[in-house]
Amino acid sequence: MICGRIKARLVSGAVVFLLGETGFKVRIDILTLFPQIFSGPFLSGIFQRAVNNGLVSVNIHNIRDYTHDKHHIVDDYPYGGGAGMVLKPEPIFEAVAQIKETLKPEEGAGPPPVILLTPQGRPFCQQVAQELSGHSHLIIICGHYEGFDERVRQYLATDEISIGDYVLSGGEPAAMVIVDAVVRLLPGVLGSEASSRDDSHAAGLLEYPQYTRPAVYRGWPVPEVLLSGNHAQIAKWRRQQAIRRTLERRPELLDKAQLSPEERQLVSRLKEDGTC
Ligand code: ADE
Repeated sequence: MICGRIKARLVSGAVVFLLGETGFKVRIDILTLFPQIFSGPFLSGIFQRAVNNGLVSVNIHNIRDYTHDKHHIVDDYPYGGGAGMVLKPEPIFEAVAQIKETLKPEEGAGPPPVILLTPQGRPFCQQVAQELSGHSHLIIICGHYEGFDERVRQYLATDEISIGDYVLSGGEPAAMVIVDAVVRLLPGVLGSEASSRDDSHAAGLLEYPQYTRPAVYRGWPVPEVLLSGNHAQIAKWRRQQAIRRTLERRPELLDKAQLSPEERQLVSRLKEDGTC
């Protein structure tokens, strides 16, 4: 057992680490060669609260447990030669099949997405997180070595996702990133709906600057409008700051952001002023 909150149980001969109890709204199954990597990140903060409150369950499956040979071999040399090893298709297909068999009919409308984590996948972003948070069940496959046998892509995966244009030594950090971004969007996980609504990227803009007490720190004051108690003025200021900040740091995001004609004018003005 990895730690107190994680329970080990046997499902069709494979060890599964189950976080939390039964009756979850969203279920996430992760296939990996290194299950122990997941013991820390999913046991703290918002995530643990979501598990404890029955909003999400995460099952970690060791791909090696779905092999049938004496040495539990999960990889092999690439046909045609070349450096590195390739993940064999059989244990991955078998793991996904067994996970699907354990689904109760009410647990999902259609078959769950089977997501392959790979630098060749579609780029992960807030919109993709939102899309994934609409599913009641996700199956996520972490790769290693030189990648997967192509038949996993062709005949098993329904989606391929990359968290950025760089190569990780395995898909596990990508799985953590994706699961974190998805879980915080689930209703009831964050304290108030507004906390994720105002996130950077949620509306296609970076988030406005935030301040807390003291009102003046080392001579640096909090913008006066935030102390005014005028909620309309505060909302307007925040929106303008979000636009300004997005223009300064990620101007390409503004092309797709939903801006009013006045806000588009503001962008033009800021560009002309050269303030951004
Ligand atoms: N596996 C290796 N690199 C990756 C990346 N950039 N995104 C997702 N999975 C990966």
